Amino acid sequence: MLTPENCVVYQPEFLATIAQRRAHLRVEVSALLPSPQPIVWEIGCGHGHFLVRYAELFPAKFCVGVDLILDRLERSDRKRDRAQLDNCHFIRAEAREFLLSLSAGITFEEIWVLFPDPWPKARHNKNRLLKTEFFEAIAGRAGEGARFYFRTDHLEYFAEVESIVANLKTWRRDPAAPWLLEQETVFQARAPEYYSLVLVRTSDPARKVELVAPGLPPPTTPTLPA
Ligand SMILES: C[S@@+](CC[C@H](N)C(=O)[O-])C[C@H]1O[C@@H](n2cnc3c(N)ncnc32)[C@H](O)[C@@H]1O
Repeated sequence: MLTPENCVVYQPEFLATIAQRRAHLRVEVSALLPSPQPIVWEIGCGHGHFLVRYAELFPAKFCVGVDLILDRLERSDRKRDRAQLDNCHFIRAEAREFLLSLSAGITFEEIWVLFPDPWPKARHNKNRLLKTEFFEAIAGRAGEGARFYFRTDHLEYFAEVESIVANLKTWRRDPAAPWLLEQETVFQARAPEYYSLVLVRTSDPARKVELVAPGLPPPTTPTLPA
């Protein structure tokens, strides 16, 4: 229950900025995805090396990459334009906010997370994206058989994801599933070694979860009782 003791207090200006950003994102996303369709989603697409090549190889798939850093997205856009692709798009968004901005009927056929920020210090662990709530949230938009691809050079993050997944009903690891495209990314090129896993969406119903990015208010900011 929300009480003055456990409630984070956000400044009104901050809340207004976030609300405006979320409203813009919803407009941008619904312009890109006006009607129900499956998409391939890359989270933290960086410089776009992976997704542009992927979209080139699979012209029937509609690919959307998100990242926080503008300069990386601009490079991604340039790569996509050089390749003259119309099935590959990049949006500046925090992954959880992107997810929350999607309208009904947008589903994930694949999700790719390549070399996510590892947040190696114990006190920063809560900032990692791949947590139980996140897997439950994406399960809500992924039909049976959808795939989740994860690669990292951070063994401890990899082990944490393995143990999260072992306790999930909505996703199961598939060691035999192929890695559909080997395409070196900027961070893969720097990694001496790395670890990969592929998950498959099971038929179990997804649990409803509240998805909140660290440091950001919930999508609808609750008001405290008077
Ligand atoms: C370590 S880099 C990896 C980039 C790319 N996947 C690669 O392999 O070269 C992680 C990327 O994820 C982005 N990122 C981090 N947290 C994110 C989030 N919550 N939502 C969207 N992008 C995020 C960062 O801006 C950064 O570009």
